[in-house]
Amino acid sequence: MATSSPCVVIGDDEKGYDLDLFCIPKHYVDDLEKVYIPHGLIMDRTERLARDIMKSMGEHHIVALCVLKGGYKFFADLLDYIKALNRNSDKSIPMTVDFIRLKSYCNDESTGEIKVIGGDDLSTLTGKNVLIVEDIIDTGKTMKTLLSLLKQYNPKMVKVVSLLVKRTPRSVGYRPDFVGFEVPDKFVVGYALDYNEYFRDLNHICVISETGKQKYKA
Ligand code: IMP
Repeated sequence: MATSSPCVVIGDDEKGYDLDLFCIPKHYVDDLEKVYIPHGLIMDRTERLARDIMKSMGEHHIVALCVLKGGYKFFADLLDYIKALNRNSDKSIPMTVDFIRLKSYCNDESTGEIKVIGGDDLSTLTGKNVLIVEDIIDTGKTMKTLLSLLKQYNPKMVKVVSLLVKRTPRSVGYRPDFVGFEVPDKFVVGYALDYNEYFRDLNHICVISETGKQKYKA
């Protein structure tokens, strides 16, 4: 895998943290194995990503494109940090937002078929500097499909930020411009990442347990 975008690397031997060291909603305690990335660490890394993005893209108006649903928490927090930079520095740039909804997973497996099931008319992105905000790159197929779809609308520039990138042999070799964390090949949930729509209401990024997989199986 290319290492062009620096990130926090979480090793394969990372054991995570016991659930009872953090606050977990009671309805999920049996469904999770470990806390993998605590919410505070996600926020601290996101603050720095905001700075790196502004440094690299902060010359012109940016359209921030949120990939729903998994990207909504990261999108909201990242934009809050970018807004803070805009408020507190001599240089500031306008930012507008847009949303697209894609779906490719059932249970913890990619269906291999990527559906655009919502969002605005993408022609609004023509000639714009677009920042795609995604939750996780697994095989990279979803992002490759989205990028080729966007290309048809001739944006001026497209950059991608993903909170997580998985180290997986199934990767098609795609690497985003900005990455929060590189994680082992495990199914993770929380901070808006879901398993069949569950666990979006969890602050930390956690590893799902076998009980959880069975309980919320589609
Ligand atoms: P890709 O096309 O294989 O890169 O899959 C990307 C999409 O699959 C992400 O946007 C997520 O919606 C979903 N996904 C992949 N891995 C995970 C995971 O570990 N937890 C939750 N969703 C995942």
